[in-house]
Amino acid sequence: MVNIGMGFKLDAKETTEPENSTRDTAIKNNETKNDYTGMNRVNSGIHGLDELMNGGFPKGNIVLISGTPGTGKTIVCFQFIEAGLKNGENCLYITSDQPVKNLLSEANQLQFHFQPEVDKGKLNIVYLDLDKQNLHKDIEEIVKSGNYDRIVMDSLSPVTELPMWMVNNGKEVIPSSNSMTTTTIPLDSIQATRLHLRHLVKIIKEENSTTMVTTEIPEGSRDLSRDSISEFLVDGILVLGLDTTMGRRKLTIRKMRGTKHSLKPMDVEITEHGIRLH
Ligand SMILES: Nc1ncnc2c1ncn2[C@@H]1O[C@H](COP(=O)(O)OP(=O)(O)OP(=O)(O)O)[C@@H](O)[C@H]1O
Ligand SMILES: [Mg+2]
Repeated sequence: MVNIGMGFKLDAKETTEPENSTRDTAIKNNETKNDYTGMNRVNSGIHGLDELMNGGFPKGNIVLISGTPGTGKTIVCFQFIEAGLKNGENCLYITSDQPVKNLLSEANQLQFHFQPEVDKGKLNIVYLDLDKQNLHKDIEEIVKSGNYDRIVMDSLSPVTELPMWMVNNGKEVIPSSNSMTTTTIPLDSIQATRLHLRHLVKIIKEENSTTMVTTEIPEGSRDLSRDSISEFLVDGILVLGLDTTMGRRKLTIRKMRGTKHSLKPMDVEITEHGIRLH
């Protein structure tokens, strides 16, 4: 029996209905492998997506998942993590949006049963405390705390919006939500965002983990991220969107370094079993 939250219990057999099994097929058929150029590819866990990008994300790359609110960014991250766990990989999920308990319960409702993987030590879920004094150091420690094959940071936006302060006579710059002493000098927000992103990308790249970071774009914006800088620093971008007039959801591979891919927005569907391409 599997506990799916809200007091409901399902027999394990019932959790592998046809649509869920397409999620399983997407995972089984696409374990990490080399493409024709010899580049290692990492499966996304999204049915139909890997075939459109030479077999998956380039290993060790950082991929931005951008989209307006409620477009499925977190679900894409769940599927990426599930695919890694099914391959026996070590995974890290950093959440700044919601506490671990809420995240696990949201995942359960979509048939992602992460708790046993947390118990086995294969998945580490960490809630970022944005009020902490030196967040970059914390993130670095978390990222280096295990030998992670896959990392998710959901979402990047609250981190990149934290104010930065120049301390120690300008010799050091640190992020903090509160002004610390009268001798600290605030950086302007663009400078602060650039520094956040440069630090984070450096920390993640040192680990060679394949990473997904999410960013919320405001409704109607033409930017690819909330900060409008991340898109230049990451290796790949998937954009999730809505065509409200047609009542359709769309997924576009907007950028994927070292990969030939279409730029055409594709129809996607979210069901109780997650996201899949049509
Ligand atoms: N069982 C389901 N069946 C169909 N659609 C669902 C189901 N569960 C969630 N959804 C859709 O998925 C959306 C939430 O997906 P998700 O949380 O991944 O979005 P998000 O882009 O991360 O949102 P946010 O910007 O708030 O972080 C819901 O708004 C709903 O439209
Ligand atoms: Mg989300």
